[in-house]
Amino acid sequence: MASMAPTTRATRTRRMADLHVDIVLGIFYFLDGQTLVRCCSVCRAWQETVNGSTELKYMIELWADGMIPCPFSTLSPVDKLERLNQWRRAWLGLNWASRTVFRIDNNPRAYELVGGVFAQQNTWPVSDFTAIRLPSAQGGGEITRTLNVGVESLDFAMDPTQDLVVFLHKEDEIGHFACRAMSSLRPHPLAASSTLSFNLRDDSVRRIFLQIADDVIGLLFRTSQDEGSLRLILFNWRRGIELVDLVGPQFPPSVSDFAILSPRAYILASVNDCSYMPGGPRGVGEIHIYTFNGTRQNHPARVATLQLPHHNPTRYLVNMIAHSGPFCAGPLPGALFSKSNDKRICVFSLVYNGGEGYSLYVHHRYLEKYLVNEGAPPIIPWDEWGPNHSRMLPGRHRFWLRYVHGERVVRPAGDFEHSNRVEIMDFGIIPLHPGFNDEASQSPSAEMCSQPSTIPSGDVFASDVTTALPYRRSFRNTEDHHVQFLIDQDRLIGVNDAVDQLTVYTF
Ligand SMILES: *[C@@H]1O[C@H](CO)[C@@H](O)[C@H](O)[C@H]1NC(C)=O
Ligand SMILES: *[C@@H]1O[C@H](CO)[C@@H](O)[C@H](O)[C@H]1NC(C)=O
Ligand SMILES: *[C@@H]1O[C@H](CO)[C@@H](O)[C@H](O)[C@H]1NC(C)=O
Repeated sequence: MASMAPTTRATRTRRMADLHVDIVLGIFYFLDGQTLVRCCSVCRAWQETVNGSTELKYMIELWADGMIPCPFSTLSPVDKLERLNQWRRAWLGLNWASRTVFRIDNNPRAYELVGGVFAQQNTWPVSDFTAIRLPSAQGGGEITRTLNVGVESLDFAMDPTQDLVVFLHKEDEIGHFACRAMSSLRPHPLAASSTLSFNLRDDSVRRIFLQIADDVIGLLFRTSQDEGSLRLILFNWRRGIELVDLVGPQFPPSVSDFAILSPRAYILASVNDCSYMPGGPRGVGEIHIYTFNGTRQNHPARVATLQLPHHNPTRYLVNMIAHSGPFCAGPLPGALFSKSNDKRICVFSLVYNGGEGYSLYVHHRYLEKYLVNEGAPPIIPWDEWGPNHSRMLPGRHRFWLRYVHGERVVRPAGDFEHSNRVEIMDFGIIPLHPGFNDEASQSPSAEMCSQPSTIPSGDVFASDVTTALPYRRSFRNTEDHHVQFLIDQDRLIGVNDAVDQLTVYTF
């Protein structure tokens, strides 16, 4: 009997390979790019099948860039592949297709850039909300302004891919999230209840961090001026369920920021400074990773803690801000492809007590690898994770957020101050694409950075900080002077000195 098995397997293999090419193609159309790449290495016949189909090659190319196809495109496969290659080359050489200028309110109270929409909101003299649907390389662009939102919003968050905008407001001792459709500002049709409320007790609402990831709204704020007086609230807005309500003592010491990774996970950045307590230590900064249940009230579970490098005894971490591109629930309206939420880079901006700033770049997939952890959450010292899974560079991002999208980060080149030069760091190095990477390495305006870099010990750090996460730099001069750049999948956006004008460069 034992001798039967190999024969059976051989027969089965032969039958698979003998399938008519149309049937193989029919099956392949259901596979994602990564599986297609694996199929190509199974046999020559399958490789030829994939090679012979522009649609399948397009799927592989999308996967290589961490993109997912958007449904409803009427373009032919050849045109889609051409558009993808055009988009890639444009970003590589920073050859934008168009440049458009928009006036905005001077220093808006709150602003957002998600899914091709720049929105801003003011509460004085009226509570208004303005959404600018930004132009794409194909044209378009439109401004809608709503003069009275009807609530005195403290902050807002949005996801145009699900037509959602959430305004945070308070009435006496109750905090509210108003869940509206962006298109009409009426109650969102998918929300079980258009207003979600929580008891503020005597809390004030300071230093607000408000975010959306699919069906979850997350809010971290300070309840008073006291150190450690934090409150974290998570809601499932579609079901109208409060998931999490944590207060001060339930947090690690000195939390400085909160970032939702996915609809079921978040991180807390902690400067870990307990010196406000008598004899309290000044530890190294820590990144705590948590999971939570998105469908019922629960206590989040810490799954891992990543430590920052040791600093010198007279030094300490004053602030650590975590920032990534937005999590979009669906495909971008009108786009051919959208960046996958799994393919994002998280930027940690660190400030030490002498004013020194550093930026630390970590892939989401590295943070998310701990989500499946079972058992006691590990505390991972810097030396065990930092050198191989991050890049730390001097200088930090400041002022407005949204300087990250997917695996790209934008900054004014040079000294991070006023600049006529823009620089992109792209951490999405395309695997399996020697051709594209060669082209990239020959581009005069791009440079591969795959060698480790070191911040020498001395001033801030107790030992040399060497990191090796690879990225590609692209840079270009701009006509205008910009104090800051924002970025999304298809655009760079420069902000002028007076902060009342956006220059939109499309790709
Ligand atoms: C498929 O295309 C690639 C690159 O264009 C080429 O290297 C490879 O030889 C082709 N394979 C077959 C089986 O045609
Ligand atoms: C979340 O809670 C629900 C209800 O108790 C449970 O059925 C589900 O398995 C939980 N999900 C996770 C990911 O633990
Ligand atoms: C980091 O990567 C290098 C080269 O691949 C390897 O030799 C080293 O063991 C890795 N270090 C850690 C802590 O994983």
